[in-house]
Amino acid sequence: AKAEPLKVIISGAPASGKGTQCELIAQKYGLVHIAAGDLLRAEVAAASENGKLAKEYMEKGELVPDEIVVMMVKERLLQPDSQQRGWLLDGYPRSSSQAAALEDYGIRPDVFILLDVSEDILVERVVGRRLDPLTGKIYHLKYSPPENDEIASRLTQRFDDTEEKACEVAATHTSSKCGCCALYITVNGNEAKEHVFAQIDAALTHVGEQRKGFTKVV
Ligand code: AP5
Repeated sequence: AKAEPLKVIISGAPASGKGTQCELIAQKYGLVHIAAGDLLRAEVAAASENGKLAKEYMEKGELVPDEIVVMMVKERLLQPDSQQRGWLLDGYPRSSSQAAALEDYGIRPDVFILLDVSEDILVERVVGRRLDPLTGKIYHLKYSPPENDEIASRLTQRFDDTEEKACEVAATHTSSKCGCCALYITVNGNEAKEHVFAQIDAALTHVGEQRKGFTKVV
């Protein structure tokens, strides 16, 4: 029998490096990267009713109400590509009610990864973060600078990336675990991105090997 596709949740404070690690994980494991923040930003960009409402919360660094977020994430998780290739859910759940909603829908991740990063590093990462609007790639002026002047000239800053918001959110952020994961892993996210990825990669490889063993028995 073929092993079920892998389902992973990655959690951590704003700017802890979730998006950066998701790019590396998705590349290596072929999982569909589903970021709650990206889904919301797409709604904001489309100026939909949900988007207009969401923007008010996002600008303040507050959680967008569950009525908007829960359905949006659930629908994306149930799309055929996520079901076939497996998924990597980034920035959800962020509250116990969001975690409970996943359980209610019978959506059960295999692994929950928490990126643990200190407050001062979080603020530095927010302030230096830049986005390439053409490719969607995330840069950092100091830690992950653009490859050339052409890219540098088109980089933009996220509307919610302000030092003021970063300080507030870093001080108050709490992560919400879901109650139904098989495995929880806390990763030291203060290190360089390659070192953070090495920790995650080792954990996911281990899970993959266990699942292969399990499939053989079945
Ligand atoms: P969201 O988009 O999820 O933002 P976030 O949690 O604030 O996380 P970020 O995207 O800011 O950071 P990241 O952890 O992906 O870090 P990154 O890789 O970019 O949410 C935005 C808003 O949407 C929320 O405030 C909320 O309002 C709303 N929202 C989202 N989900 C919601 C939900 N479930 N319910 C309700 N509302 C929700 O890295 C940051 C920077 O650091 C980059 O410049 C990067 O290059 C650099 N960097 C990364 N790793 C390293 C490293 N190891 N060393 C040095 N630099 C690094």
